[in-house]
Amino acid sequence: MSADELAPIVRLAPAKVNLTLSVVERRGDGFHALHSVMVPLGLADRLSLARAAASTDSLHVVGGEDGRTTLDPADFGSVLAGIEAARRVVGRGADAFPIAARLEKRIPIAAGLAGGSSDAAAAIDGAVDAWGVEMTAGDRARIGATVGSDVPFFFAGGPALVEGRGERVSPLRRFAGSAPGIVLVTPAVEVATAEAFRVLDSDPAAAPADRGSTRLTSEHLAAELGPGYPAMTADELIRRAGAFAVANDLARAADIVAPGLRQLRRALTRLLGVPIGLTGSGPTLWALYPSQDAAEEAARRIRDEHAAGLLESPGEGAPFVAATTIEGQGRTSA
Ligand code: C5P
Repeated sequence: MSADELAPIVRLAPAKVNLTLSVVERRGDGFHALHSVMVPLGLADRLSLARAAASTDSLHVVGGEDGRTTLDPADFGSVLAGIEAARRVVGRGADAFPIAARLEKRIPIAAGLAGGSSDAAAAIDGAVDAWGVEMTAGDRARIGATVGSDVPFFFAGGPALVEGRGERVSPLRRFAGSAPGIVLVTPAVEVATAEAFRVLDSDPAAAPADRGSTRLTSEHLAAELGPGYPAMTADELIRRAGAFAVANDLARAADIVAPGLRQLRRALTRLLGVPIGLTGSGPTLWALYPSQDAAEEAARRIRDEHAAGLLESPGEGAPFVAATTIEGQGRTSA
């Protein structure tokens, strides 16, 4: 069977959250060395790849509230960047034919959920599969890192400790029992990661409250999800949510880049009565729950509160609110 007779290759590209995010130092190359425990979520984009009829790669993107609106592919450059990076490594001998990619976008963009990086990882993985070539996990991660700092994480396929600028990825244990639930609230403001790091470096008001304790929390969590400990349950994770919620060294920078974020965080703490954390440089806020059902109940309360005009959220329009699971073992309501 020739490649153009094959069914399209489909990959889910999960979102991630940082349960902890310690910024260790600013490196000589301008990037920042991190120590972060990251987990993939059930909320995912869907990428399908087929042999292109044309002589170049192409990308079609659909999304929006109805899931069917055509979006500008220029905003999703990481997909074609991933395919091109993979082609460069595959070498001349292989038939790395042009690819027509179709992306169903469900993860909010510039939200701290690494949707673009996950799309790139899925594109690299899918293209390698479509071309029928071999590529080691190490090579995938190496070329992924040229597209974005968060890309290598997605080749771990589960929770991982991420260090360096994102290129050092150590897989951690999965959670035991049923998947922990998580609610995501993304206000309608974008936070560019580069801007958050720039503010962290230049504005004294962005200095983290306690870098030492962020680092310790992150190290403890990585150790407890490592060998030598029994697998952690959702209940154990949630008991520690208060420590994770304050373990993000970019939180104050995000509050400066996205005015109103701090107030939204406080309002959610009052409404839900559970610790509220920030993923990456934001603006997505998260709350952990013992199950997907409990997360869905919380998501309903947030939507109702906003609809009743009782929850202010920065930016134009309603925040994106989704209930999903850590590690992607459940359904997703968005
Ligand atoms: O690699 P990526 O494109 O995701 O990074 C966006 C920007 O965020 C970088 O240009 C850099 O300014 C900043 N960054 C950083 N340290 C990291 C990751 C990103 O300073 N570990």
